[in-house]
Amino acid sequence: MKNTYKAVEVSAPGVLRVVERQVSEPGAGQVRIRVEACGICHTDAATVMGIYPGLTLPRVPGHEVVGRIEALGSGVSRWKIGQRVGVGLIAGEDGVCEPCRRGDTVNCQNPVVSGVTADGGYAEVMIAEARAIASVPEELTSVEAAPLLCAGITTYNALRNAGLRGGDLVAVQGVGGLGHLGIQFARRMGFRTVAIGRGRDKEKLAKDLGAHEYIDAAAEDAAAALQQMGGARAILATGTSGAAMGPLVSGLAARGKLIVLGVPQDQVQLSAFPLVFGGRSIYGSLTGTPIDNEDALAFSVLENIRPMIETLPLEQAADAYARMIQGKARFRMVLVTKDGVAQGAPLN
Ligand SMILES: NC(=O)c1ccc[n+]([C@@H]2O[C@H](COP(=O)([O-])OP(=O)(O)OC[C@H]3O[C@@H](n4cnc5c(N)ncnc54)[C@H](OP(=O)(O)O)[C@@H]3O)[C@@H](O)[C@H]2O)c1
Ligand SMILES: [Zn+2]
Ligand SMILES: [Zn+2]
Repeated sequence: MKNTYKAVEVSAPGVLRVVERQVSEPGAGQVRIRVEACGICHTDAATVMGIYPGLTLPRVPGHEVVGRIEALGSGVSRWKIGQRVGVGLIAGEDGVCEPCRRGDTVNCQNPVVSGVTADGGYAEVMIAEARAIASVPEELTSVEAAPLLCAGITTYNALRNAGLRGGDLVAVQGVGGLGHLGIQFARRMGFRTVAIGRGRDKEKLAKDLGAHEYIDAAAEDAAAALQQMGGARAILATGTSGAAMGPLVSGLAARGKLIVLGVPQDQVQLSAFPLVFGGRSIYGSLTGTPIDNEDALAFSVLENIRPMIETLPLEQAADAYARMIQGKARFRMVLVTKDGVAQGAPLN
């Protein structure tokens, strides 16, 4: 076997370049994965622009990674060589900080973060912490599973942890990588599902994905439109604009929740009135744990949820990333390696 592999690294802010690296052995508690597919999440922009807290360059981005284990570090007994696994964003808790000691490992204060503190999946090979990987069910191809490991789990977990009941009105703001999966999860979990986009061009897609209703926030006041429908019990805010999030609080029913998933660069401004009068709330939700990822994959198999993807070869990561940033992806760009192609992954 070749002892080098291709990777795409951020060599300086804004620069993605293909490099050849030495294959290394996994350390204790780690596995080495031969990557087949890696989705491009908007959060990768924080690595590409060099602004993710704690980041040092060069760094290989990518945290929607699917591949096969090809080497086990010492002390790894749960996983087998050849097994297909996935890695998400929060990819190893320290186990000793206060949130970890309280069992809240996703909020670990010193986590391994794929593509930030450790090299991620824009590569043919990735070293991952064995405690952070998820088993990928055979019903899903690698390119289908990859986006579920961040965009999928983030929307799935936010919905399932929101204390909602069947039939509740749930809105998903933003019809992008996260949003198009959020719509599918909301619908399949039994909620009256409203998609909020900008313009009419995504309306049909949103309805095809399962939205009962579509609000064009460019043409009408989204909060007023939600109130006309009775008010939302929850809104998943997946957009990359803080200015667009704050006003959504007024679209919530009494006790409704605005769940912030997007991480915009600008501030979120809030009026206290709809928060106080009606007991509405706003909070954030960060992806999930490896076992949550297995749940998200299993639910996707159970309810036939699949991401809509566009695939490109790993070497074209910069083009794929640009398509995501420009909002042109429908809806997730997925990089495919030569091993992914050998396993049958399609390229378009
Ligand atoms: N919480 C977490 O754990 C987590 C996990 C993954 C990603 N994220 C964050 O979630 C956000 C979305 O990620 P993604 O991968 O889904 O991105 P994406 O595929 O690039 O989609 C971007 C979304 O932002 C919306 N948008 C862009 N400009 C907007 C504006 N001015 N007003 C309203 N909406 C606007 C787009 O809405 P339209 O449909 O209207 O065009 C689109 O739905 C990013 O901030 C990312 O960092 C958070
Ligand atoms: Zn992500
Ligand atoms: Zn911790």
